[in-house]
Amino acid sequence: MRTIAVLNYKGGVGKTTFTISVSQALAMAGFRVLAIDNDSQHHLSLVVDGNGQRTPSIREVYRSSVGIAGKKLLDAITETGLRNFHIIPSHAELTGHDVKDTHILEKAIEYASLSRFYDYIMIDNSPGIDILQETAMHAADEIFVPTELSYFAVNGIIELHRILDKRFRGCCPITKIVPNGYKGTNKQIDYLEALMSLYSEKITETFIPYDPVFDTCMKEQKTLFIHKLFSKAAAHYLKLIHELFDLDEKRVWEQVCDVKQNHLRGEARQRFFEQQKRALMDEPEENKKLQQHLQTQVVFEDLPAIGKIEF
Ligand SMILES: Nc1ncnc2c1ncn2[C@@H]1O[C@H](COP(=O)(O)OP(=O)(O)OP(=O)(O)O)[C@@H](O)[C@H]1O
Ligand SMILES: [Mg+2]
Repeated sequence: MRTIAVLNYKGGVGKTTFTISVSQALAMAGFRVLAIDNDSQHHLSLVVDGNGQRTPSIREVYRSSVGIAGKKLLDAITETGLRNFHIIPSHAELTGHDVKDTHILEKAIEYASLSRFYDYIMIDNSPGIDILQETAMHAADEIFVPTELSYFAVNGIIELHRILDKRFRGCCPITKIVPNGYKGTNKQIDYLEALMSLYSEKITETFIPYDPVFDTCMKEQKTLFIHKLFSKAAAHYLKLIHELFDLDEKRVWEQVCDVKQNHLRGEARQRFFEQQKRALMDEPEENKKLQQHLQTQVVFEDLPAIGKIEF
């Protein structure tokens, strides 16, 4: 299992978008992924689960004693609409004061034996470096840093390196810096060159392009790789996970396409039955036969697959 903290000193650079997109792409490629929302803004919980106030959340894990933190962590795991992708939601009232021991998440992951259940844990963080981010860093093996290409963003990365070096030396290294919102403007190219000159070996070869589709998917709570698989956003994220996790690009593509097809088929089936049910409610008498047929279907779906059936 690999545990990754997604961090940046600067806000609004695409950390949550990155955490969600990478987690969903890995899950659709067949890996078991847990994303932890470690930000009181709870954007990840809102986008993936549609609920920003679910409890138990990561807050209950932080507020518990070490002895039961593993159980609290397991209790907080929430399924999403995507197979293999689970989250631990955050809460609007989460603050650094909830954390009594900055090693609690690390211990909870160990006590809950999450390595048996997941291939990847992704931890989304609020901007800056404080107690909550420190707790994530102790739990993580490495740090990924999505960044914009702007003056403040480049400064933010220099600041992040300086603070990690000063306060968290030997804690958890920055392994990858991912340029985000790339449009290829002269200014962006200048900032990219500045980053390359400082941290060349850490900058990914794949830059995530600027694409409004991210915002649409977030707002509509849609999965990028299901509803916009042929966008440049999805193509670049699939390329990125191939680069970050050393995956077979062709195999990932085939698996993602399979999951997309199954998902859409399931949605279409669901829509069809809902339409039929609505039609029957409007005209129950005239459609009695169809109603009976649907009821029979539900009954047969509910029956055990094997064994003697008694009527
Ligand atoms: N490559 C991109 N192209 C276009 N829009 C993007 C891109 N990446 C992210 N966005 C948009 O930018 C906004 C900020 O992204 P996001 O919430 O992921 O940033 P963040 O770093 O998590 O912010 P915060 O620091 O507040 O947690 C969102 O509206 C998101 O849809
Ligand atoms: Mg965020």
